[in-house]
Amino acid sequence: MTTASIIDGKAIAAELRQQVANEVGKLPFKPGLAVILVGEDPASKIYVRNKQVQTVEAGMNSFEHRLDADTSQDDLLALIAKLNADDAVHGILVQLPLPDHIDENRVINAIDPDKDVDGFHVINAGRLATGQKALTSCTPVGCVILAKKALGELKGLEAVIVGRSNIVGKPVAQLLLREHCTVTIAHSRTRNLDEVCRRADILVAAVGRPQMIKQDWIKPGACVIDVGINRIPREDGKTRLVGDVDFDGAVEVAGSITPVPGGVGPMTIACLLRNTLQAACALEGLPEPKI
Ligand code: GUN
Repeated sequence: MTTASIIDGKAIAAELRQQVANEVGKLPFKPGLAVILVGEDPASKIYVRNKQVQTVEAGMNSFEHRLDADTSQDDLLALIAKLNADDAVHGILVQLPLPDHIDENRVINAIDPDKDVDGFHVINAGRLATGQKALTSCTPVGCVILAKKALGELKGLEAVIVGRSNIVGKPVAQLLLREHCTVTIAHSRTRNLDEVCRRADILVAAVGRPQMIKQDWIKPGACVIDVGINRIPREDGKTRLVGDVDFDGAVEVAGSITPVPGGVGPMTIACLLRNTLQAACALEGLPEPKI
């Protein structure tokens, strides 16, 4: 029985954040990231708090805007317009999900694409899909960094992504294509999903179903990148976090695997900080940082 090497996303993210901080230290100005949180979703509050702390630790300004859950769409759009026009703000992030009365696409597409550090704006999605320079969604970028750390060169490898969301599945497919992988986007309704997964040299699980991907779905030696963050009950009545992959089974077959927590999760904010640095340099007419 072999045991997969565990990809240490926490350490790799810390290294990337340090690189961002080093580059920020060389700038003649402070990049600024504005984060908008609408409502009281507990998970969103934790994400936003972590973003704020790590933004400041990287030497950047963090501008936080907390709005009531009943904030109107027009008021939110007015705030975005103000931040678009604010020269101290180089990145704008609207924490998702938004309350039901707000049209998420309308809001995302109101952000100046050059400040869209989440890479969710339709212009950035289109730039990515057509091979143009784009601000690119943070979690997908994190997945590819981790796969490269584990495998080195990705060229020619078979990549299977389980999940087709705009935030993860579709952009990670674009990024892996750019790395010259052969890419399949599968999802919960794919026929013979286990067989499709077994083709993968790189298996990206982003389907949002706890422990759905089993040991015998994994090709021996494959690199498994688990994007899932699911809270499931424990026997003692508390909860624990698990991914979309059945880790204990997968670790016996895979060549390398990301844990949950401590795998893809920490990469998201590190990549957000890198995007903010990139956006800031572009907006200020400085050369692109080499990280
Ligand atoms: N909600 C869950 N993940 C994300 C993310 O990456 N960005 C934003 N803005 N909201 C999220």
